[in-house]
Amino acid sequence: MQMNSSKSKESKRATLALGFVLGAISMFPQQAQCFVSNPQIQPLTTLHRNSHLYSSKASSRKKGRRRNASTKHSSSNEESNSHFDIEHAAMSRQQLKIRNSESGNSIHIPSPHQDAHQHHSHHQNPMSKLLSHIIPPQDQSKKLISSSTEWKKLVKHAEYIEGTHLRDLLQDQERSDEMFAQHDGVYLDYSRQRVTLETMDLLFDLAEKQKLEEKIDAMVSGKKINWTEDRAVLHTALRAERKKEQTVKKEIIVDGDDVLDEVWDVLDQIKYFTEAVRSGEIRGFTGKRLRNIISVGIGGSYLGPEFLHECLKTEPEGINKSLGYTLRFLSNVDPVDVERACADLDPEETLVVVVSKTFTTAETMLNARTTRQWLWDFMGDGKEVVRKHMVAVSSISSKERVEDFGIDTEKYFFRFWDWVGGRYSVCSAVGGIPISLLYGFDLFEKFLLGARSIDKHFTEAPLRQNIPVLMGLLGVWNMSFLGYNSRTTLPYAEALLKLPAHIQQLDMESNGKKATIHGVPVDYPVGEVDFGEPGTNGQHSFFQLLHMGQTVPCEFIGFLKSQHDLCIDGEPLSSHDELMANFFAQPDALANGKTPEEVLAEGVDEDLVLHRTFEGNRPSLSLLAPKLTAYSCGQLLAIYEHRTAVQGFIWDINSFDQWGVELGKKLACDVKDHLLDARKNGSKIKAGNPATSRILNYYVENSNQAIGEDLWDSNPLTSVTRKTHHEHHEREILPPVGHDLKGADGKLQ
Ligand SMILES: *[C@@H]1O[C@H](CO)[C@@H](O)[C@H](O)[C@H]1NC(C)=O
Ligand SMILES: *[C@@H]1O[C@H](CO)[C@@H](O)[C@H](O)[C@H]1NC(C)=O
Ligand SMILES: *[C@@H]1O[C@H](CO)[C@@H](O)[C@H](O)[C@H]1NC(C)=O
Ligand SMILES: *[C@@H]1O[C@H](CO)[C@@H](O)[C@H](O)[C@H]1NC(C)=O
Repeated sequence: MQMNSSKSKESKRATLALGFVLGAISMFPQQAQCFVSNPQIQPLTTLHRNSHLYSSKASSRKKGRRRNASTKHSSSNEESNSHFDIEHAAMSRQQLKIRNSESGNSIHIPSPHQDAHQHHSHHQNPMSKLLSHIIPPQDQSKKLISSSTEWKKLVKHAEYIEGTHLRDLLQDQERSDEMFAQHDGVYLDYSRQRVTLETMDLLFDLAEKQKLEEKIDAMVSGKKINWTEDRAVLHTALRAERKKEQTVKKEIIVDGDDVLDEVWDVLDQIKYFTEAVRSGEIRGFTGKRLRNIISVGIGGSYLGPEFLHECLKTEPEGINKSLGYTLRFLSNVDPVDVERACADLDPEETLVVVVSKTFTTAETMLNARTTRQWLWDFMGDGKEVVRKHMVAVSSISSKERVEDFGIDTEKYFFRFWDWVGGRYSVCSAVGGIPISLLYGFDLFEKFLLGARSIDKHFTEAPLRQNIPVLMGLLGVWNMSFLGYNSRTTLPYAEALLKLPAHIQQLDMESNGKKATIHGVPVDYPVGEVDFGEPGTNGQHSFFQLLHMGQTVPCEFIGFLKSQHDLCIDGEPLSSHDELMANFFAQPDALANGKTPEEVLAEGVDEDLVLHRTFEGNRPSLSLLAPKLTAYSCGQLLAIYEHRTAVQGFIWDINSFDQWGVELGKKLACDVKDHLLDARKNGSKIKAGNPATSRILNYYVENSNQAIGEDLWDSNPLTSVTRKTHHEHHEREILPPVGHDLKGADGKLQ
């Protein structure tokens, strides 16, 4: 997610400068003292190492070790271990609620100011105070997890695993009886991982060493674990229960604000607004119903909502609810994307949603200005046009910018918070506005409920039965011990076609890091390359490599029932069974392979035996859910969000920042300056090195020539939007008009 670049050069530079300063703090925390006086970077403290969070909870490691499911935030959790003996993770949420209600609790996170004040006297060195919540005392913090016994044992154990074959491991009954987990309809089978029961024990030891449970609790309770700018990470709060519906009273306070109240204020606002648009109460500038939505945003402001949209598009309820409406995403700064997004839409019926946390993201703001121009082209450039056709989803601190842009900040502005990162934002108004406009708020709420179900599981289920934890630990195992540095997501469901793209951002932006949160370079591999494609399409694309080339851990996702199953005459099995046959066959083909003997026995020519042998032993895991609905979509989302966090927690990296996207942005600004100079003044470009100068000059010289009179109007720079405009008018292609929806919930009469 790239939200930091700004509209004007000045603020761009300011942002970059601030980014640089903070980047420097993150890399050289011990030298950062000189920046402390800057009030902007002041609040870097709240949570203290000596708080209960970091106090190690002595717990025995034995196979059935159960997690204390009552809230771990309460300081007295001894008693709960005794009466908390769940036999299986399948322990129902109802039961958990009962357990929970035994210890009502309230989490209060003091504001940085209160906190700094309270603890000031305890710390001599202001910098150690500043970072004390995430940086343990020097001696310990500088130690990488790879120097721990737990890690070393796993390294040794990996040598043993190298000598095993999945073909044999899979025959083990006890092993296969252990290697699955279930929660609320989601079934995880990890028996095709290159692990034994002992591996799992060692991985849970590592989790304990890394205080995984405490870190999870710190996250969901609003501790400031995104420490580079001292922020909480609370995407779980976006789908938490409304306070008055809670069975266990629990509040989350960040900087003095009650998070749950704020979240529900905005959800209510989304519900009200989107229902008013869908009922025709809120209309466009010319009085027409608003039935086209263009969602302008990039990165996390786009990938999550698009993934959800694709899931719901063919979901029966989704089909009904979206009838008569369209939703398009406009993300790329490529002008062609504007053309694609606006094509055939009637601007008078179009609502443009601009999604950017800072309201400065370069691509998004250019696209927002372009669509605003498109609206003006049709309806005249009045203020009201913008106020009736554009909506902003943005951080509260960007309100002024939203207002300057011309958007009505009373009714058409939906806020989110600093503790929501772009790639973790689909449950906020970022997904809420476009999805509820298209499908109605109720369907969006079902999505939130699915995510909430996994959140509860993630925070309450024993680690050994905890689906995101298991997946995270196996991810660490693959990457750091077995050396598999890529991973592929293979949903056997066409409606999940955008899930791989979402995971790609979620995971690679989160865990593509190089240093621990203590500022030490990691000496172990972290951060997989994620890619994927729906099955069976992938099988006809890159599966050749998966079966015979490099080993890439595969993640199969399938459903018991299809959104739309069919069985045409003469077919023995339904189409969904046909699809699922592949879902079950591929993991075994990868794991077992095919020996030369088996190939020979089939009568294959000796010359070809090697080419037709599969060595197998290629790991995979399988996730099954009942049916792809808004609810299960929420579950999947949360599973992957939490898996990513688990891996980051084990690796000791900050999965919540993304400094890696800054440098390219900065250089793009420099190039823009060069282009401006060359285009305006005709001067030769002298960039930082001869290679860059050469290619830039080549571009400028040849692209100038390419823009011929016949290709463009007199003003090539605005012809893109004009073209749509002209086409509508000159060729009398009238936008569709015969659909006054009369409040019929989007259905065409
Ligand atoms: C969709 O609408 C049709 C016709 O109104 C109705 O029969 C059907 O039950 C609806 N399906 C869902 C899933 O809402
Ligand atoms: C963490 O903080 C960084 C700034 O340091 C911000 O860009 C990012 O979005 C934050 N992440 C979350 C999950 O809040
Ligand atoms: C880990 O690799 C396994 C194979 O060992 C693969 O199926 C799975 O997708 C990977 N899991 C994670 C969480 O990376
Ligand atoms: C173009 O040249 C003018 C004067 O020669 C200079 O002031 C200006 O900075 C140049 N434009 C750019 C974009 O560098």
